[in-house]
Amino acid sequence: MAKVLTGVQSSGSPHLGNILGAILPAIENSKISSNIGYIFIADLHTLTSIKDPELIKKYVTEIAAAWLAFGLDTNKNIFFRQSRVIEVCELKWYLECFTPYPMLANAHSFKDKSNNLSDVNSGLFTYPVLMAADILIYDAEIVPVGKDQKQHLEITRDIAKSFNHKYGDFFVLPKAQINEKLMTIPGIDGRKMSKSYGNTINIFLPDKELKKTIMSIKTDSIPLDQPKNPETCNVFKIYSLLANDNQISQLKQNYLNGNYGYGNAKKELFTLILDKFSKQRIEFDKYIKNKDFIEKELELGESKAREIAQKKINAIRKILKYN
Ligand code: ADP
Ligand code: TRP
Repeated sequence: MAKVLTGVQSSGSPHLGNILGAILPAIENSKISSNIGYIFIADLHTLTSIKDPELIKKYVTEIAAAWLAFGLDTNKNIFFRQSRVIEVCELKWYLECFTPYPMLANAHSFKDKSNNLSDVNSGLFTYPVLMAADILIYDAEIVPVGKDQKQHLEITRDIAKSFNHKYGDFFVLPKAQINEKLMTIPGIDGRKMSKSYGNTINIFLPDKELKKTIMSIKTDSIPLDQPKNPETCNVFKIYSLLANDNQISQLKQNYLNGNYGYGNAKKELFTLILDKFSKQRIEFDKYIKNKDFIEKELELGESKAREIAQKKINAIRKILKYN
């Protein structure tokens, strides 16, 4: 059985980018009978950027509800909160002692964040080591992630190799699974859709708010009667990610014909989202109203994850003679 592991931070409400870029591909992967998925909510990583416990908790619930609404099978896969398997922090310490300081100082994500954020805490600096611990503690083999996480996977492999070099083949070397074809989903302002840019489409919003978000997608100012270029339009780009071929060519034709305003295209997109995700929107609301159920699902995963993590920690303590 291949162990496929991925984590999503609880740093905001789940959005279309997370869903198309991470949640749906991971669920597809987890359905393959020879795979077992380790799907977790990286709520400890979230503390590097959010300090409000209520807010983190709210986002944990929403992210969990999104995974469940999209049909993650929690019996076949292990679904858990990172913070509830605290062994990962012990492993993080051991791994830190095998991580050369410059490797972290030169990581792109740390450099980007430390240039742009006012709160440059040490958690941001050691972020990749916690991520390495997340992966290595479960002997994960395949880690589906976005392109932005590629270097973190390389760091994970380097740390594992450095430990293995000294103590034998203890850690499995994980492989990143990066879907190069998967495009970066654009946000309502045309930049990458991201919680940190405040440009997301939260498909689980109530109708009215969802419509408001979609109507606020940025477009150019070509007058209504003029033909428009679908290739450069955000509304069209997002629509194309969700629609079938017929729908796409119909919308394309409307753009090219002229006498078709962006307002119309936005309404089409809104209807498409309601239609495409109608089931998941209902399921999401059902889960959000039933937090006890979410809690039980996570606790089930956490007891399985903890058992595996404890075994790995006991083995490492033995090697280091801390047992
Ligand atoms: P955000 O940028 O909103 O903070 P995260 O860093 O929490 O998103 O990403 C969680 C997962 O969702 C990652 O696997 C990431 O690659 C994927 N993801 C996030 N935004 C997008 C996007 N705009 N397009 C495609 N995938 C995305
Ligand atoms: N750093 C990842 C992100 O921001 C989240 C994450 C934490 C993760 N630990 C992980 C992803 C382990 C894969 C494996 O998207």
